[in-house]
Amino acid sequence: MHFTYYGHSCFAVEIKGKNILFDPFVTYNELAKNVDVDTIEADYIFLSHGHEDHIADCISIAKRTGAKVVCSWEIHVWLNNQGISNTHPMNTGGKWAFDFGTVKCVVAHHSSGLPDGSYGGSPMGFVFTSEQGNFYYAGDTALTLDMQLIPQYAALNFAVLPIGDNFTMDAKDAVQAARFVQCHKIIGVHYDTFGFIKIDHEKAVHLFAEQGLKLFLLQPGETTDI
Ligand code: NI
Ligand code: MN
Repeated sequence: MHFTYYGHSCFAVEIKGKNILFDPFVTYNELAKNVDVDTIEADYIFLSHGHEDHIADCISIAKRTGAKVVCSWEIHVWLNNQGISNTHPMNTGGKWAFDFGTVKCVVAHHSSGLPDGSYGGSPMGFVFTSEQGNFYYAGDTALTLDMQLIPQYAALNFAVLPIGDNFTMDAKDAVQAARFVQCHKIIGVHYDTFGFIKIDHEKAVHLFAEQGLKLFLLQPGETTDI
């Protein structure tokens, strides 16, 4: 699968020719200043939760591309009220077969207020299964024992985990998360963007390597095959 990192927790995966974008936050991210948000293609936009640093560019990209936005029921209503009608509401525990594969919404321990103070419903992680491979995006979350369920849903090719601490897991907890979900290839997200989540890259990579795991820290704009 082609994986493109756009900085913070924003990334895209291409499956069966569909561009699937996650948690769009580019315009206000200093570290992603080399990424032109107006060139990002999307057939789908998945939102893990309603915080600004995960949805800031959602409305503009959805309007330009016509992408279907997949999110909690509450965020779906909020988007509908702002003129984004191509949405698919889901909630934790549910799954849906899309044209590229199946997505199951799983528990994330976090919060989910929208930028105007509206309630965003439960935050979520996503388990993707497809003919081209399987992966897990944890969203913003603490380390949680619920992650141990994920191997029952899919044998993962890779997992996308937050590692920045303060608002989410740190790298050490993410190593434990990788063991819970039984995945050796981890793409780190949600680090360095703000003062609160600056990390030591070498130390993080070393923590994973010690356990025989590979941590990928990509540059915003970087595409890789994984
Ligand atoms: Ni958040
Ligand atoms: Mn966040």
